Amino acid sequence: MSKEKFNAVKGMNDILPDDAALWEHLEEVLRGWLKSYGYRNMRAPILEKTGLFARGIGEFTDVVEKEMFSFIDRLNGDDLTLRTEFTAGVVRAAIESNLTYNGPQRVYSMGPVFRHERPQKGRYRQFHQLSVESLGFGGADMDAELIVMLRDLWDELDLRDVRLELNTLGQPEERAAHRVALIAYFESHNELLDEDARRRLHANPLRILDTKNPAMQEMVNNAPRLTEFLGDESKSRFEQVQRLLKDVGIDFTINPRLVRGLDYYNHTVFEWICDGDTLGSQGTICGGGRYDGLFELLGGKPTPAVGFAIGLERLILLTQDTLKQNLDANCDVYVMHQGEVAARAAFGVAVSLRQMGLSVVLHCGGSEGAGSFKSQMKKADASNASFAVIIGEDEVNAGTVNIKSLRGEGGQVTLASTEAASYLMQKIAGV
Ligand code: HAM
Repeated sequence: MSKEKFNAVKGMNDILPDDAALWEHLEEVLRGWLKSYGYRNMRAPILEKTGLFARGIGEFTDVVEKEMFSFIDRLNGDDLTLRTEFTAGVVRAAIESNLTYNGPQRVYSMGPVFRHERPQKGRYRQFHQLSVESLGFGGADMDAELIVMLRDLWDELDLRDVRLELNTLGQPEERAAHRVALIAYFESHNELLDEDARRRLHANPLRILDTKNPAMQEMVNNAPRLTEFLGDESKSRFEQVQRLLKDVGIDFTINPRLVRGLDYYNHTVFEWICDGDTLGSQGTICGGGRYDGLFELLGGKPTPAVGFAIGLERLILLTQDTLKQNLDANCDVYVMHQGEVAARAAFGVAVSLRQMGLSVVLHCGGSEGAGSFKSQMKKADASNASFAVIIGEDEVNAGTVNIKSLRGEGGQVTLASTEAASYLMQKIAGV
């Protein structure tokens, strides 16, 4: 049998323990922040029927056209897709369970999502999102509250150099009128359109505005703008959002070309962007907006909704220094020993310290494989423990243990082994 080693799937990363500690810490911060705004967790499956994403996100979006991990279930022929985002699945689940029957719901989901993109720094094929959805809220105040909430998070994570872009996509009828004008405009500049743009011309002309092709920039800049087609209600709604943001001192720029890559949006859309070198061209850390039509599109009752998703890999790249500073120790106590008698005593000490509620790592490897105290001390340091308990044969004979502080001022004391637990509890937990 070939012994070729396996590598991870391209664009999908292992998160090893040192990094996973940062992830866990960030997730904890996020949960506390979400709770403080009244959001509750919900979890839909990672797999959904392919048609859900095609209909929800839009047939002619990049995500649906090029980036879905789709496959046919060999057992029953179902066409399935690994979730490319949370919103479509959350809305599907909300409709199925009648979640908003008794009123609006603030929910969030966190976990891996999958897009078959070209991997680069900040862009992966498996990545993680925190997706926050306010289901059943129709007012502009919720659009603004989500943005305020995000500003609070950036502050808490000490994230600077992040800026907000805002736009409105109006109502479906206004977009339809804009669309007719756009198609006519692009048709009159047919010779400047690239292959992608020609293909999208009738299916999704709005996405042509999003083109990265430098040869098309000037033509696209002069294209008819949606704002020219907005009615009074859409305009005043957008003004209301802006007023609320200004009231609480949030700066933003209006980017009329911000259309987002998913078709379900209407009215407010926004992105938070970091321009520094850390993320290079993948500077968008959070994107969101209103999707008042999605419930109906997926077969539910009309239900206004608004939300956003944060790319967690990108957020970690930007905030890792702050996260590292605030990491908790892995364990309270590392128990070291030398010799057969001491190994046995150490085993018992570890058990009794854990019974007191302390987290304890016992140096393992048996009495023969334990190694010198010096090498054990290195492991104790690496474990991030606050204290080392050191037991040799002399200590066992004298009924004592040595306790060395590994943090702060250091120092070592020798105590009767019966007093070790209460000493450590007092030092670590203050009891
Ligand atoms: P999205 O803009 O497609 O929106 O993705 C949200 C965030 O996910 C992006 O701003 C980015 O930080 C991160 N992201 C996207 N693709 C990748 C990738 N390939 N690698 C790493 N990070 C990535 C949505 O998904 C919407 N569902 C957001 C939403 C929720 N709108 C309303 N509710």
